[in-house]
Amino acid sequence: MLFFSLGFYLSIYFAVKLYIFSAFILLFQILKPHSRPKSLRNGNNLVAIVTGGAKGIGLSVVKKLARLNVHVIIASRCKKEAIHAIETIKSQNRKAKVEYLMLDLSSVKSIKNFVAEFKKRELQLNILINNAGVMLTSYTNTECGLEEEIMESGEIGRQSRIVNVSSHAHYATYPFSVDSMIKRSYFSSHRAYCESKLCQIMFGNMLHRQLMANGSLVTVNSCHPGVVNTDLYENLHTTTSWFLNKLRILFKTADQGADTIIHSVMSTEIEGTGGLYLSNCKRFHSLTVCNNRKEQEKLWDFTMSTLKTMLEKVNEKF
Ligand SMILES: NC(=O)c1ccc[n+]([C@@H]2O[C@H](COP(=O)([O-])OP(=O)(O)OC[C@H]3O[C@@H](n4cnc5c(N)ncnc54)[C@H](OP(=O)(O)O)[C@@H]3O)[C@@H](O)[C@H]2O)c1
Repeated sequence: MLFFSLGFYLSIYFAVKLYIFSAFILLFQILKPHSRPKSLRNGNNLVAIVTGGAKGIGLSVVKKLARLNVHVIIASRCKKEAIHAIETIKSQNRKAKVEYLMLDLSSVKSIKNFVAEFKKRELQLNILINNAGVMLTSYTNTECGLEEEIMESGEIGRQSRIVNVSSHAHYATYPFSVDSMIKRSYFSSHRAYCESKLCQIMFGNMLHRQLMANGSLVTVNSCHPGVVNTDLYENLHTTTSWFLNKLRILFKTADQGADTIIHSVMSTEIEGTGGLYLSNCKRFHSLTVCNNRKEQEKLWDFTMSTLKTMLEKVNEKF
């Protein structure tokens, strides 16, 4: 008889738990009519960075922002897709301000180069959309380091905004603690995705609090774009993938998926408000742990020390 490690069984358990959660999330989405963003502010003189803006939900966000006259920078590792996206946008609206800058969030060197290139443009950053993400790989998400760039750009009545594109999948991490995440001895790709989405919300809430405490005019929110028909699910196991493809017709389109993100960064209804979790263009509940200050601080310290080590390694190399 074949025996597997405990970690293997726990990974299977978590994957099943996630699929059950996802079924409920999809059912909930089908029952709720789609809401569109309202009371959008003027995009003139606003500069936005959209990570992963060359395809999927990110690309729809870029198109919608460009239509609102926002100067958009597509931060992506895929030059070909980004250039094609820019050509399409400009063919429909010659005045659209859309640019491409190379960014691979899995490389600290690439992040540093991106920030340096952005600084060269001497633009004020008003909107940062942390949209890039992958599912079910060994990918580790890294913070972009652009928070410093956006820090000084807010004005009273026209605050700058950061939004983290998270997911209702974060509910599947319940019960969650930062210690158990750090100390875990096995790797589960399903769990890693859900925890990364939870950490985005926790980190965003803590960043928002810190910015407020320092009198900054920048708000940070998180959102769930919906269950959206994109390439995100391409790493699923063949059987799951076959089943999921049958359900895709029930998913939101990428354009609909972009709506809550646009609401987060452009709606006047939430001007000056941060630390929110938004879904379907409305406030929604995130897991209670997302607002637990002790857990937020542990995550903050862990993130900072990990980033410090990564930056030291890069500085040694180059
Ligand atoms: N689709 C859904 O149902 C759903 C539900 C909840 C939340 N979300 C979240 O929505 C966001 C967008 O996902 P999507 O559905 O639009 O998926 P997608 O079509 O697969 O797009 C993901 C984007 O992230 C980029 N990306 C991945 N790794 C990157 C890296 N290391 N550096 C730079 N860019 C990177 C990808 O660029 P490449 O083309 O270079 O890979 C791509 O542009 C993700 O954060 C996802 O977790 C999606």
